Amino acid sequence: MHQTQDAPATAPAPHSPRRWYDDTVGYQVYVRSFADTTGNGIGDLPGVLAHVDHIADLGVDFVWLNPVYPSPGFDHGYDVADYRDIADDMGGMAAFEELRDALHARGVRMLMDIVPGHTSHTHAWFRSARQGRDAPYRDFYVWRDPAPDGGPPNNWESVFGGPAWEFDDHSGQYYMHRFLPEQPDLDWRNPAVRDAFDDILRFWFERGVDGFRVDVAQGMLADPDWTDIPEIDPDLPPDEAADLRFSGYMGRPETPELYERWRRIADSYDALLLGEVYLSDPDVVATYITDDRLHRAFFLPLQHTTWDRDQVATRLRRAVEVAQGRFAWPQSSHDDPRAGSRFGGGDRGRRRAMAFFHLVGALPGTPVMLAGDELGLDDGQVARLDAEDPITTRNADREDGRDGSRTPMPWDPDLPNLGFSEVEPWLPLGSNRGADDTVTVQEGDPDSPLHRMRRFLAARRGLVGMLATDEVAWLDLGDDVLALRRGDVVVACNFGSATHLDLPGTGRLAVASSDDAAVTGTDLALGRDTTALVVLEEDA
Ligand code: GLC
Repeated sequence: MHQTQDAPATAPAPHSPRRWYDDTVGYQVYVRSFADTTGNGIGDLPGVLAHVDHIADLGVDFVWLNPVYPSPGFDHGYDVADYRDIADDMGGMAAFEELRDALHARGVRMLMDIVPGHTSHTHAWFRSARQGRDAPYRDFYVWRDPAPDGGPPNNWESVFGGPAWEFDDHSGQYYMHRFLPEQPDLDWRNPAVRDAFDDILRFWFERGVDGFRVDVAQGMLADPDWTDIPEIDPDLPPDEAADLRFSGYMGRPETPELYERWRRIADSYDALLLGEVYLSDPDVVATYITDDRLHRAFFLPLQHTTWDRDQVATRLRRAVEVAQGRFAWPQSSHDDPRAGSRFGGGDRGRRRAMAFFHLVGALPGTPVMLAGDELGLDDGQVARLDAEDPITTRNADREDGRDGSRTPMPWDPDLPNLGFSEVEPWLPLGSNRGADDTVTVQEGDPDSPLHRMRRFLAARRGLVGMLATDEVAWLDLGDDVLALRRGDVVVACNFGSATHLDLPGTGRLAVASSDDAAVTGTDLALGRDTTALVVLEEDA
C-alpha cells in the first residue's frame, strides 16, 4: 500500500467514461465576500441564494463554496471547529439546504471546501488533545518533544510566517502547524484520522453535496524523519523555492495515495474531488489525479503567471501534456492576486484577463473563476491598516497578503456598499472600485466583461468538436501568439500587437475575448491582448 520515494507515478489513463464533471466550468464563491443578508458586514449563504440566478445565467456548471463551517475565523473559515455543521452567521444548515436545492433546480452543482490537514484549535478533538499526553485525541495531532535546547523540534517554517511549531506548556511538547498556531495539523498517519474523514465525506454526500475542493491536498503528511530544511538557493525560481521551503510537510510522495479511499467513497456518490495541489511541477501534480485518486487538481502555477507569452506557453504545454484533461485552470482565487492584477491592472489587465480565460477555457480540463472574474475585476485596493488576512496582520514585513482578491463583490452602484451589505463590509470594497465594476452596470452594456463571459461560456458549450477530445496540437502562428488546435477549433491568444495569422484552413469565428478579431478565408485578424476561437470548416 505504501508508495516509496522513488516509486514511479502512474500516468492518468487518457480517456475514462464520461461523468457529469467532464467539460465543466467552475465558479468559486468566497462566501464572506459575496453578499451579506444579515447586516453584519459578512457575506452568507442566503446572500449566495439571493444571487443564484446571476450564477446560473453565467453558464457555469458548479459552484465551489469556501468553508462555511463553524469557525473562530482566524483564517476566515479555514480553521474549522466542526466539520458537520454550517456556521450560524453563514445561515446554518437550513440555508445550506435551501441553496443546494436552488442551485440544483438550475442545473448547477455544489462543491464544499474540505479542510483535512488541520482543524481549528477550538475543535473538540484539539481541546481534548491538549489535556495531556494520554488524552483521547492526542494522537490526532502532530506532537514532538522539544529539541535538546528546548526550542522547536526542527527548523520548519509555517506558510504564514514563523516556526511551524507551537509549544504547549501543559504537556511540554510542541505541536505542528503548517499555517497559524490556531490551525493545529492533523496526523494523517493515524488511521483513526482517516476513518474520521471518511465519515465526514459521507455526511455531506448524504446531504446532497456534489463534491469537494480539497484544501492543501498536497499537505497531510510530514517527513517521518523530521529532517531540517537546508538553506535555499536564492537564485531558484520562487515557485520551486516555495516547494523546497515547505517540503518537510508538503508534497510528500506518499500523500497522493491517501485519496484512494476518498475516491472510492466519492465515486459511490458520483461526486467530484478537486484538489488544491499547490506544487509547481505539473508531473508531480499529475500523481494526484490518477484513475483511483482525485478526479481533478488545480494547476496553481498559473496564479503566478504574468502576461508573458513564453512563460504562459512553457507552463501550459507541459501541464496540458501530463494532465490529460484532469487539471483545473484557475483564473483567480482567494489566495493570489486576481488575473486582472497579475496582467497589469486596470483596463489593460481586464482585457488580458478575458483573453487568458478564453485561452485556458479552451484547454482540456476545468476552468474555474473566482466570483468577480466575470466582471473583469482586478484586486481591490486595501490599505494595510484595514488588512484582514493573517499573512498581513501577523507579519509586518510581508507583502503577499491575500485581501486584494477577497474584497466584496460589487453588485449595484445605487445601493450602500455597492449592494454587498447595508453596513460597513468586513473588508473594504477597495478604493479602486467604481460603478463600471458592478453587475448592474455591466448588465446594461453588451460589451462588458459580464456579457463577454456569458457569450464565451455559451459558445464553449456549443464547441462539441473541441470538447470531444483532450488532444491538443500546439501551432506556430507567430512569435507573440500562443496557438493550438483542439478538435476542429483553433485557439489563438495574441500577447503582442495587432497582427494577421494564417490559419490551417478556412473557418468561422466562434467567439473572441475582444471585438478585435475577424476571420476572412484563412486569415485571422487578431488584435493585441485578444484570444480568438475559430472553428475550422475546411482544412487548407
Ligand atoms: C488553502 C486555502 C487558504 C488557507 C490555507 C490554510 O491554501 O486556500 O486560503 O489559508 O489553505 O487552510
